[in-house]
Amino acid sequence: MENYGYEEEASMYRKSLIIVILLIFFFVSAEAGIFRVQQNVLTPENANEARLNRLQPPDQVMDAIGIEPGMVVAEIGAGHGRYVVQIAVRVGENGKVYAEDIDAAALQHLEQRCAKWGLEHVETILGDVTKPKLPEDKLDVIFIISAYHHFSDPVALMKNARPSLKPDGIVAIGEWLNATSPEQIETEMKAAGYKLDRTETFLEKNNLYIYIFRIDQSR
Ligand SMILES: C[S@@+](CC[C@H](N)C(=O)[O-])C[C@H]1O[C@@H](n2cnc3c(N)ncnc32)[C@H](O)[C@@H]1O
Repeated sequence: MENYGYEEEASMYRKSLIIVILLIFFFVSAEAGIFRVQQNVLTPENANEARLNRLQPPDQVMDAIGIEPGMVVAEIGAGHGRYVVQIAVRVGENGKVYAEDIDAAALQHLEQRCAKWGLEHVETILGDVTKPKLPEDKLDVIFIISAYHHFSDPVALMKNARPSLKPDGIVAIGEWLNATSPEQIETEMKAAGYKLDRTETFLEKNNLYIYIFRIDQSR
């Protein structure tokens, strides 16, 4: 009987040791990235992109704007392509995305990002501060996110973007409330030849409104 007690104790000790070894293996592997989730085209490239995507959830934003397969969309101020990849997947190969920015290095990065994931329907356009150089009469949507407050002359830029919209096209601007007030955006966009269609406020808790404008045909 005494012998049996000793065996039982030894077996429990072995089991505990195995559990400790497995736990150490798990934590070391996780740290080394062995269990890291496979990356895909929509995976944020860094922690800042992940944070911004949590504040501006791409699917919810694109649903609110009405971005659909087959559409032709341009993003002004596309940066490193955080949203371009999202839009490119949503519009699909029958659609098209123009990624415009004034930062050549950012566009070069964006091109490499799209090439890596085979997004051949994305075209970059290097604009200048007031001339987005987008193709005329082609766009269903001009999209701008986290960029409007960076534009040094938004009225001139948006006036020059107007001819690129189809007559029933829209401009969708996602902008931080503490960066630009709704009144300022509406006033400037009116001066650029647009009228406000609606404002989507479902991300107000994240400090963001989405403004949908249409061409003001009377101007
Ligand atoms: C904060 S980043 C946002 C990038 C991207 N929209 C995003 O949310 O990940 C702002 C971008 O606006 C661009 N930008 C600033 N002024 C611009 C202008 N006049 N025309 C086009 N892009 C401009 C900057 O170069 C920069 O890439």
